[in-house]
Amino acid sequence: MAILDKHTILEKNVTLLAILSLLVVTIGGIVQIAPLFWLENTIEDVEGMRPYTPLELAGREIYLREGCYVCHSQMIRPMRDEVERYGHYSLAAESQYDHPFQWGSKRTGPDLARVGGRYSDEWHVDHFRNPQSVVPESVMPKYGHLENTPIDGKYIGDLMATNAFVGVPYTDEMIENAQADFAVQTDPFGDFDGLIERYGEKVNVRNFDGQEGISEADALIAYMQMLGTLVDFSTFTPVASR
Ligand code: HEC
Repeated sequence: MAILDKHTILEKNVTLLAILSLLVVTIGGIVQIAPLFWLENTIEDVEGMRPYTPLELAGREIYLREGCYVCHSQMIRPMRDEVERYGHYSLAAESQYDHPFQWGSKRTGPDLARVGGRYSDEWHVDHFRNPQSVVPESVMPKYGHLENTPIDGKYIGDLMATNAFVGVPYTDEMIENAQADFAVQTDPFGDFDGLIERYGEKVNVRNFDGQEGISEADALIAYMQMLGTLVDFSTFTPVASR
């Protein structure tokens, strides 16, 4: 066979083989990488995604500060055991406003990507105060100090502005109203129309920790309770099957 005979030339000349291999890898590399420079975005837009409310964003900062990601992931892989346990696999869009993302790399505790709405606020208060009181075999540390630490959201507007700088669609109006929106989300008797108008119907407005004033527990529970609840999976269809 003529073509195989030609191939022996390559097999006997290591320099030529190296040069041609490099050429093949280069073409393959360009085909794979170059289009990314012309694409606007590699994340498909998904209905329901919105930036975090100021209170949720503050809760997320507490999550980072306390190192919850050391024991908890926020990324459900598309495998049967995970989907049956945690719900629909995570979409790229669901962490598109996360700076930094919280996918994590270790699960000492369960994945939290869809923990929103799974438990009551009271359960979270008890669980943070003393995890063993609700899950006797738990190895999660106690976070009772959170409910005793007041928080006023004074700087949350600055953090939102920083997030806006890296592409999170916070508007000037959202940033201006940051501190007021922060406070009113824990006050179901307050005037929270603006908050709902800015962040949507699904925003939970409650006294999350059940006590007077706003504590770090309020912020963290507000964050827990919205995780994974933004996309409606009863109507969601992935691009590939549309
Ligand atoms: C040392 C590891 C560890 C750390 C750190 C940790 N957790 Fe946990 N977490 C666990 C374990 C183990 C469980 C499962 C038992 C239980 O429910 O307590 C758990 C359970 C949970 C649950 C219930 C999840 C479910 O679906 O049942 C939530 C919510 C949670 N943790 C939030 C947090 C938050 C928020 C932080 C940070 C403030 C945190 N955890 C820090 C180990 C940890």
